[in-house]
Amino acid sequence: MNVTTDQLFKVAYGKFAIGAYNINNMEQAIGLFRGHTHAQAPMIIQISRGARSYAGVRMLEAIIRAAEEEFPETIFSVHLDHGDEATCYDAIDSGFYTSVMIDASHEPFDENVAITRRVVEHAHARGVSVEAEIGQLGGIEEDIVVDEKLATLTDPDEAAEFVRQTGCDSLAVAIGTSHGAYKFTGAQRVHIERIAEIQQRLPGFPLVMHGSSSVPAEEVARINAAGGKLDPSAKGVDADQFAEAYPLGVCKINIDTDGRLVYTRVFREHFRDHPENFDFRKPGKVLFEEFANFIVEKSRKLGSYGKLDEVRAALS
Ligand code: G3H
Ligand code: 13P
Ligand code: ZN
Repeated sequence: MNVTTDQLFKVAYGKFAIGAYNINNMEQAIGLFRGHTHAQAPMIIQISRGARSYAGVRMLEAIIRAAEEEFPETIFSVHLDHGDEATCYDAIDSGFYTSVMIDASHEPFDENVAITRRVVEHAHARGVSVEAEIGQLGGIEEDIVVDEKLATLTDPDEAAEFVRQTGCDSLAVAIGTSHGAYKFTGAQRVHIERIAEIQQRLPGFPLVMHGSSSVPAEEVARINAAGGKLDPSAKGVDADQFAEAYPLGVCKINIDTDGRLVYTRVFREHFRDHPENFDFRKPGKVLFEEFANFIVEKSRKLGSYGKLDEVRAALS
């Protein structure tokens, strides 16, 4: 069942977070739906602009519709990840996306407000939820490069003013994380205390954590042992910190890189161990299962494991 993120956040607020995972193809979709069926957890399916141009807008929609038929118990939102204004309108008007993210966080405050307000008006008229962003994550957000040194944490007063002026439904906040596999060096960390300060200014308002992959050292080591050349210093967010974040109003936690690592590890290990094989369906089947296991583990850390009945009851 495809519902808005707003509906999911009403159930989750303060009690657990919902995992938001990017997908680009059928293999990830099967792993995602299978994993959430095992975990009996709600989910947010994220589609980036990169995914839309890779697989095609219609193809992704068809994959998700087919996966829902195969896994009919699932409850999810289809969400546009890091949209620009034009892509937000396209996703909203498609009637398929129940949630969009307008990311104008690289613009000055007033321009970010103006763009976000336009998207909110368009989306709300069509029953779609809107996530916006204020503050800048380090690393790379799609085509926007933010110098690590300039990455700024979200200012709590600005965040409250931004929500008041835009009417957005949830807010992505910069709290020290960044996208990709190389998040932390030296003293960098997740600023849980900043989330608490933002929650004080915005009580009851859903917050979103981007860049939340854990980048397990064991996964990096396995990829490298199978021919990869990832920097072994790669480091991510300790998933045990999700339990510190969701009581503070973090309702959505974005994870993409960790799924990519599972994918890469499964295929690299298979072709290393079976160099005579060229039937990709053999590692593909392993991937469905490994991806599903990865989702089940994440659901436990997010606190969303076993929450499907509660969500279903709230929706009925
Ligand atoms: O935040 C970015 C997500 O990890 C999606 O990445 O733009 O390469 O699809 P992508
Ligand atoms: P990761 O790169 O940490 O998986 O973050 C993904 C993300 O924030 C997508 O919007
Ligand atoms: Zn992101």
